[in-house]
Amino acid sequence: MNKIAIIGGTGLTSLAGVEITGTREVDTPYGSPSSALSFGRIGDKEIIFLPRHGNPHAIAPHKINYCANIHALKESGVENIIAVNAVGGITSEMRPGRIAIPEQIIDYTYNRKHTFFEDDLNEVTHIDFTNPYSTDLGKQLATACLMSGLDVFIGGVYAATQGPRLETAAEVKKLEKDGCDIVGMTGMPEAALARELDINYACLSLVVNWAAGKSDEEITMAVIEKHLDEGIGKIKLVLEEFITTF
Ligand code: HPA
Repeated sequence: MNKIAIIGGTGLTSLAGVEITGTREVDTPYGSPSSALSFGRIGDKEIIFLPRHGNPHAIAPHKINYCANIHALKESGVENIIAVNAVGGITSEMRPGRIAIPEQIIDYTYNRKHTFFEDDLNEVTHIDFTNPYSTDLGKQLATACLMSGLDVFIGGVYAATQGPRLETAAEVKKLEKDGCDIVGMTGMPEAALARELDINYACLSLVVNWAAGKSDEEITMAVIEKHLDEGIGKIKLVLEEFITTF
């Protein structure tokens, strides 16, 4: 597998088993990425790690400079991105603790810089986004989950919401009617920007709470953090399996 980057979400700011060989501050025409890029190795595989919310974890989802993050990875020679996201579970199969590898996205975000293709164009460019995630990468991730003995949901639709607040129960009902299975705040415009720069991109989601209105429990940061703490070890297992196998 050619150069891989992991964009870590909430709870994933490092990866065990990875020997960090260096970090580099980079600048891009779009500004600075969320943090310095960390370069690492598992065996002879080179990976780049970028914590999406910064290090320490302080950049809100709508404030992330997605363009700078994706541009910095492209400039570093990355051809494959695994995007790790914490999400809320909407449909009954998407219980907290479960890993999902979605195959579709609906974008409900707004006011985010969402394209590289708007200024200084020779011609208007429209990317094909019929299948927003790389099918091959998704299959490899699914195999890595199964090889790690983990319960994974393959498929489903990711709703990208604006945040940083969580949704109302009525909003989640609407998302479900729209066909969404999970909801998170960082899936877009990241996936589209990766496609614009021709980088394979797949999403590894960890369900950390029932979405609003889907359980009687209040959605507190404590609930989210409990599931994150329990689930992040699984995510690390999958990533290590994925990197060593492919
Ligand atoms: N909604 C949106 N984003 C999230 C959620 C949620 O319920 N849980 C984790 N990220």
